[in-house]
Amino acid sequence: MNDVLRFLQQRNSSPKLTAPAPSDRELQEMLAVAMRAPDHARLRPWRFITIAGDRREALGALLEDALLKRNPAADDNARQKAVNAPRRAPLLVAVVARLREHPKVPPIEQQLSAGCAAYGLLLAAETLGYAGIWRTGDACFDRNVMDGLGLSADEELVGFVYLGTRPGDPKPLPDLSPEDFVSAW
Ligand SMILES: Cc1cc2nc3c(=O)[nH]c(=O)nc-3n(C[C@H](O)[C@H](O)[C@H](O)COP(=O)(O)O)c2cc1C
Repeated sequence: MNDVLRFLQQRNSSPKLTAPAPSDRELQEMLAVAMRAPDHARLRPWRFITIAGDRREALGALLEDALLKRNPAADDNARQKAVNAPRRAPLLVAVVARLREHPKVPPIEQQLSAGCAAYGLLLAAETLGYAGIWRTGDACFDRNVMDGLGLSADEELVGFVYLGTRPGDPKPLPDLSPEDFVSAW
């Protein structure tokens, strides 16, 4: 079988990620893949915010702060989870959808395009021998988190792409048959 097809069919997120992360140079190459996302009217409806090293602690503080605003009664366990979330990978990329008014391109198309960009990052990471996982959760849809990351009012988070190196073997792939998901009309 075609090697590229085989590679694409075996893409596999990694919930656990360790160092090393992609280098700055590798990340540039990965972003170039992300920006080949299909993009109606070439709006470029995305941007990317990298969070690495100590900045992950700052993000953890932001996530805890936002959690307490959402739920002032959040217990210690939930607070620690928020604080520690960004430490689950050496590098995070917040994928941002920049939504603008367009007569032919509704917001959903711009969000989908930014989502494709996130997927491009995952594919490019695996191409370079790294791994990643796309995460959202309540924090991702929280305006306080978006504000803390510097998003403007017309921007929203599509997700955090966690990036690093897969420790150990990939998890088993699900056994999916295309015929279960396709019909001819
Ligand atoms: C938009 C989106 C948001 C997601 N958010 C989370 C998340 O917050 N936490 C999580 O564990 N997995 C999340 N996932 C799922 C993982 O990224 C991943 O797809 C899943 O673990 C299955 O692994 P696989 O991609 O190798 O099939 C999300 C996926 C998508 C597309």
